[in-house]
Amino acid sequence: MKNLHNALLLKQLYQLKALGYTYTNTQPFSYEEQNTLKLPNSLVALKQQAINCHLCALSKSRNKVVFGEGNEQALVMFIGDAPIDLEDSMGQPFLGRGGEMLTAMIEKVLRLSRQEVYITNLLKCHPLATQEADESQIHTCKAYLFKEIELIKPKIIVTLGEKAYHYLTNDKSNLKEIRGTLINKENHTIIPTYHPNFLLKNPSLKREVFMDLQKVKSLL
Ligand code: URA
Repeated sequence: MKNLHNALLLKQLYQLKALGYTYTNTQPFSYEEQNTLKLPNSLVALKQQAINCHLCALSKSRNKVVFGEGNEQALVMFIGDAPIDLEDSMGQPFLGRGGEMLTAMIEKVLRLSRQEVYITNLLKCHPLATQEADESQIHTCKAYLFKEIELIKPKIIVTLGEKAYHYLTNDKSNLKEIRGTLINKENHTIIPTYHPNFLLKNPSLKREVFMDLQKVKSLL
């Protein structure tokens, strides 16, 4: 919540600066506004809030906010990195070849449909090719991800790629070393594995992902 608070504070200060202020000694937030900083307790309302989010610069270049989708009572949640071009124009996560790879992983190994799991990203907006998302943008957006986890309460979280794992756990281990490890948290188990887009470039690693997903299957 602190990140969300800081992002809102920064936004308000930028607005004041744009209006010509060079100094302010007023309290930017009233106590009533502090209460509205809480994220909503329903996925529909959370998605709506994300759609209207302008807390970071990515909101200026995005076409569509890409919120998570799938089963709201899913036992398994997949967390990717950030939407790319196609997702940005369609407003859905994991489309295109990376999406096909993820769907195949879910269907062929877990024997589930895409609709039975929940798929989301660390970032809900598409960073342009020239504009790698910075830490503060990721930390701001993480509030949405954490709320999705809190609302869906998945039993298992599969992080796809290094970034999702690093930012979810604050563990900066090398993915090669940590992948396939079961990390037990209070309410769920995290399993890091390779990103589907990485598999497209390195098909020989499919075997490792297969083994990681077999572990997911055995926990279900
Ligand atoms: N598309 C997504 O939605 N997420 C990724 O991490 C990559 C592509």
